[in-house]
Amino acid sequence: MEIIRTTVQLVEYISKVKERGLRIGLVPTMGALHDGHLSLVERSVADNDITVVSVFVNPTQFNNPADLATYPRDEQRDITLLAGAGASAVYLPTVEEVYPEGTSAAAGYKYDLGTAAEVMEGKMRPGHFQGVAQIVSRLFRLTRADVAYFGEKDFQQIAVIRNMIASEGIDIRIVACPIKRADDGLALSSRNALLTDDQRRRAPIIYRTLQSSVEYSMTHSVRETHHYVVSRLNDVEEMEVEYFEIVDGRTLLPVDDWRESRWIVGCITVYNGKVRLIDNIAYRKEN
Ligand code: PAJ
Repeated sequence: MEIIRTTVQLVEYISKVKERGLRIGLVPTMGALHDGHLSLVERSVADNDITVVSVFVNPTQFNNPADLATYPRDEQRDITLLAGAGASAVYLPTVEEVYPEGTSAAAGYKYDLGTAAEVMEGKMRPGHFQGVAQIVSRLFRLTRADVAYFGEKDFQQIAVIRNMIASEGIDIRIVACPIKRADDGLALSSRNALLTDDQRRRAPIIYRTLQSSVEYSMTHSVRETHHYVVSRLNDVEEMEVEYFEIVDGRTLLPVDDWRESRWIVGCITVYNGKVRLIDNIAYRKEN
């Protein structure tokens, strides 16, 4: 596996790969890798000739400095896991390499991300999706990837990235991969490492509640289902729902009635102590 740290090295590597006419898959990550990330890498390795994985904790998508400061990092472990999963190259740039003129200079350009970027995470984390668009569009252009892999755990992120490639005119295919969970149902996340033992023990309640709410939604309204989830989780010690929205799976705009759309998803963010956990579940999905 190639270990690439600079833009110049990356561009050279990609040129050689392109000369050979190989198909490139890209998996963007912020490191502290777990089986969720590795499932995207494995999918890309199976689908493409070359898999490039980026590991970069992108400061411009963090609106909370404490979240950025405590974000887990373990470069050596990430490299070992990626080599084991069959990645062809890992791109590990420094902040200076990505933002040579500083991160505030980079904020000048505004991406058109559509209304999908204004709800939920977009509302709670101002500037977050502009930061995601900034780094992801850069990675798309530098790697000239044919396909990029993203996890449905960050459901809204996928919709926003699809809007970004349309408005920027970037020619790349986006593949959405299913959420990987621990045996007890907790969605795998780099932030899970920050949970105390008690918080980790309680964390599976989030997914269990979402699952039982699907059953509940068969006989109850959207409003009642919303209340069911929020009240149950807020009753758990140290847990507080930041938002729970029941939305159209494509537009991400809220729905009021189950008959309104054939694809309806519940997206949730819960504070478990100080750790912000995110998850989602499909209520309706018809082709
Ligand atoms: P990060 O949180 O490291 O996630 C990298 C990719 O792994 C994302 O596409 C995310 O949805 C996916 N992922 C995380 N947990 C997963 C799980 N349990 N199952 C399946 N996929 C999972 O998302 C980001 O980084 C950043 O915003 C990034 C796109 C890299 C831009 O900086």
